[in-house]
Amino acid sequence: MKNTENDFESVIDRHATNSLKWDLFDDEYPMWVADMDFKVAPPIQEAILKRASHPIFGYSIVPDSLFESYINWWNRRYGLKMSREDMLYATGVMPSISSMIRCLTDVDDEILIQSPVYHVFFYVIEDNNRRVLENELVFEDGKYRIDFDDLDEKLSKVKMMILCNPQNPVGKIWSKEELEKIGELCKRHDVILISDEIHCDLTDPGISYNPFMTSSDYKNSILCISPSKSFNVAGFQSSVVYTKNPELLSKIKTQLHIDNSDSCNVFAVSAVESAYNESEEWLEELKRVLYKNKQTVKEFLTNELPVIKLIECDATYLLWLDCSALNVSSKSLCEFLRQNQGVFLSAGSDFGEVGDGFLRMNIACPPKLLKEGLLKFKAGIIALNNINKLSKNI
Ligand SMILES: Cc1ncc(COP(=O)(O)O)c(C=O)c1O
Repeated sequence: MKNTENDFESVIDRHATNSLKWDLFDDEYPMWVADMDFKVAPPIQEAILKRASHPIFGYSIVPDSLFESYINWWNRRYGLKMSREDMLYATGVMPSISSMIRCLTDVDDEILIQSPVYHVFFYVIEDNNRRVLENELVFEDGKYRIDFDDLDEKLSKVKMMILCNPQNPVGKIWSKEELEKIGELCKRHDVILISDEIHCDLTDPGISYNPFMTSSDYKNSILCISPSKSFNVAGFQSSVVYTKNPELLSKIKTQLHIDNSDSCNVFAVSAVESAYNESEEWLEELKRVLYKNKQTVKEFLTNELPVIKLIECDATYLLWLDCSALNVSSKSLCEFLRQNQGVFLSAGSDFGEVGDGFLRMNIACPPKLLKEGLLKFKAGIIALNNINKLSKNI
């Protein structure tokens, strides 16, 4: 296969590249961290090689062309019209959220999140000496929904809410109506809303995505975006913060500067611009590959492990598996699978207590690798069953 062709089939050995996914733990098959095992889009590799061929790697500026690539992408794909002057560069979504927590809330304040949710939301709140207030999602008939009464009540106690859209780990795209309602409630209680939309591009083929800001006109909202999940370029540590509220923007700008989170590394501009300006067709093919992988897992579970239920989702390459019928905590299950088979999925309780009984499985890898992972997963579940003599259904 030529370097200029999209390649979602080749299994590429990532060992010895200081990969968090492959080099942190020896001999483990990783299905945890949200990082893909596909070769990057050819225009991105080309742009990086071009920059690397220049032999000087000093400090970089963030040119307007980087912001334009975000503006065009979001306008073209989602109908959101952003202006350059309302945008700030940041060295990643989580560094920017951490800075926003510091400049827009006070020590000991409660911050609302909707669990089960990306585990780093918990750490970033607690590490900044703020407190987590959870609006737990309701799991009913195999689906998740928001408890709006609980949200209404809890928003009266907080200054900030962090929304995850699409929701990691349950893969849900919030509807326009739900987003509008969240905006109304935040307005009623004067709560700053941070909308983390880092997974927005990774929808199933044919499924459209609703940004918070095209669904709600709530002024005190802040959008966090990045190509890092969609194009697997998280290692370049690059994101954008956008808000139409100049007061918020000014505070965030100062804090990002204080935190030294506003400057970019030497490859970031090449990576972002080549992703958004030249790799859209690659992304569309990726979405089809991920969808196929999702179907593979669905069939595998139905035929081979019916005791485990896949929660239907419309977005992300992270699958949320209901393992509650096994009657073990998700931490024990996760540990057992690692010890017994060397396969590492994320424990559901990492995403909040309400996630106990679930596992999160990353399926962003070539189909051949996915099948290996699924076989290990099955062998682990069967071994657990043999030991515990628990389920009759496997
Ligand atoms: C919802 C969400 N936000 C943020 C991040 C991390 O973003 P960054 O690497 O830009 O800090 C992740 C990574 O998995 C994520 O799932």
